Amino acid sequence: MRIQHFETLQPVCPVCKAATGRLHPLVIADVTQEDGRHIVQGILHCTLATCQREFPVIDGVPLIIRDIRGYLSENAFQISLRDDLAPVLESALGDCLGAGSTFDICRQHLSSYTWDHYADLDPQGEIGDIRPGSMVRALHQGLDLADTHCSLAERSGPMVDIGCSVGRSTFALAERYHGLTLGVDLNFPMLRLASRLLRTGTVSYPRRRVGLVYDRREFHAALPNADLVDFWACDAMALPFADGAFAAATSMNMLDCVASPVDFLGAMASVLGSGAPAVITCPYDWSISATPMECWIGGHSQRGPEGGASEPALRRLLKQNASQSRKYLHLLAEQEVEWQVRVHSRSTMCYKSHLVLAQTQE
Ligand SMILES: C[S@@+](CC[C@H](N)C(=O)[O-])C[C@H]1O[C@@H](n2cnc3c(N)ncnc32)[C@H](O)[C@@H]1O
Ligand SMILES: [Zn+2]
Repeated sequence: MRIQHFETLQPVCPVCKAATGRLHPLVIADVTQEDGRHIVQGILHCTLATCQREFPVIDGVPLIIRDIRGYLSENAFQISLRDDLAPVLESALGDCLGAGSTFDICRQHLSSYTWDHYADLDPQGEIGDIRPGSMVRALHQGLDLADTHCSLAERSGPMVDIGCSVGRSTFALAERYHGLTLGVDLNFPMLRLASRLLRTGTVSYPRRRVGLVYDRREFHAALPNADLVDFWACDAMALPFADGAFAAATSMNMLDCVASPVDFLGAMASVLGSGAPAVITCPYDWSISATPMECWIGGHSQRGPEGGASEPALRRLLKQNASQSRKYLHLLAEQEVEWQVRVHSRSTMCYKSHLVLAQTQE
């Protein structure tokens, strides 16, 4: 966690914010390990005497999460997993724990997302027919729209990238706009990779070849304006920031990953300033493991006026202030973009993602 980001963004206690709507700032209560201007291990505290919740900073990532106990118990394995094992031991562990284990799922996620985000910088990036970088290309398409419709390049203030995973989109924002940028996600192994990249300039990840066979890839990644970037573990549905804290937001391919997409759009609008743009892409790959069916945007009720389609349902939500909040996101433009997720060396899933540019209105 960069001290500069903590001081500028002044995160608030997500527990107090959810319970009372009041904003109690967090303070850095303990620093156990530092690396330059990064806190690698430490504790943040809520300043309200009757709350005093603690939020740990682990491997450079602050965990500012409302249900911190639930999160830690669900993610204890991922958080305490050591990452200094030699590739041969990592491989043996993978075989022993087997397909479908938490270890295996973490490696698959790291493999898929890190490949699309960073393989263009890997001298042995296994560049075949499918080019890495699909998410960043889609992001730039959205940012071009935001520059045209909302003069994003002329706006000042921090930007937030929600559901950043291993972080290339967050770096891309800082490179393009030269401002303070924060990536937030809930996947600890992905945030740990992004945070380590900030401190060491190195990407290190397991790239899946076939089955449980992974090749460890490690390479240098020089990312312009990386000193403006930080990565925090925060829940997109309970963002620990004051209203209007950010000048722009992006959220690539995560609207269909949250428990309530409508509430997420409301939460995103509330942390944005007035007239601030939001670039959102979504492949509408609905699944009940992430989102209860009742909360999907389209994808059901084929007999209804929208025929079950997701695009008109999202358009409607972005036109009518569905969450009935003071500030909401209003649709400005939309496009179709390609997004690819590499599964293994012989399989890549190709999505068509719906890109929308929206802007907050009051
Ligand atoms: C399909 S991935 C997309 C990752 C990346 N934006 C991209 O396009 O390559 C969705 C991401 O959203 C994150 N996510 C899901 N629910 C979240 C939540 N409630 N708060 C923050 N991040 C969340 C996941 O951990 C995952 O990294
Ligand atoms: Zn509190």
